[in-house]
Amino acid sequence: MAEYTSILIERKERVAIITLNRPRELNALNFQLVAELASALEELDRDDAIGCIVLTGAGEKAFAAGADIKEMADKTPIEMMIGGFESWERIRKIHTPMIAAINGYALGGGCELAMHCDIIMASENARFGQPEIQLGVIPGAGGTQRLARTLGKYRTMEMVLTGATISAKELEGLGLVNHVVPQAELLTETLKLANKVASQAPVAARLAKESVLAAFDTSLQEGLEIERKNFFLLFSTEDMREGMQAFIEKRKANFQGK
Ligand code: CAA
Repeated sequence: MAEYTSILIERKERVAIITLNRPRELNALNFQLVAELASALEELDRDDAIGCIVLTGAGEKAFAAGADIKEMADKTPIEMMIGGFESWERIRKIHTPMIAAINGYALGGGCELAMHCDIIMASENARFGQPEIQLGVIPGAGGTQRLARTLGKYRTMEMVLTGATISAKELEGLGLVNHVVPQAELLTETLKLANKVASQAPVAARLAKESVLAAFDTSLQEGLEIERKNFFLLFSTEDMREGMQAFIEKRKANFQGK
């Protein structure tokens, strides 16, 4: 792996854990951190040995308190555009399943980063929000769109128009958080889930992710076609033969990622 200064990367069997590592700034997402994150995710995405990526934040207080306000305060629109915001597009294109382990504040870009993940685990003290309106701006990394698609118009409007934070427990009820657990158990519980995802047939996992995400980008008809083509495509993999044969022989499948 390349050398990174704002994130930490750890591998546990087929799971990679990326820790956003600017705890003194509550892991605020400056351009360098987001660029490093995009590069690390792309590296891990190309690595056959990794079947799931966990994102979490260093320290006990925050996953990420948003984009770095001190860095952004005097930027022009052009500097924002070419300065690093394209890293978010790179993160959006990662094929490997990603699980967020939200260990505290997930605000602004932190909430948006959580929503770039495919499953969201959170600790009991975690709080989510899009406070950009209080800074005279609006979410810029997908917050208005991804929240609206998950929570619907009215909850999203309240969050985006007031900037108020919402607890993980409340968001669990609203379908944005998968599971809320005590902070001390967050990483263990997230890793249990990540190991389960990482033990599936890798090509099937990638195409499952692609198919579900298509539901947010396409009409139902187009989405159904993407799903069906991906389903048929999997009949070309050795893992599909192995998975079905293992079922018939009443044994555990041994997937090879081919
Ligand atoms: N950017 C830069 N620095 C930040 C930061 C951020 N988003 N969030 C926190 N920090 C820094 C603080 O400035 C402080 O540094 P100093 O000690 O040098 O002053 C340090 O982290 C600790 O923060 P606080 O003292 O504020 O901690 P707190 O417990 O009193 O409050 C908080 C915690 C409620 C999260 C508060 O820090 C806060 O409101 N942060 C900003 C949240 C925010 O507005 N995020 C949206 C950013 S815009 C965005 O994300 C755009 C987008 O769509 C991509």
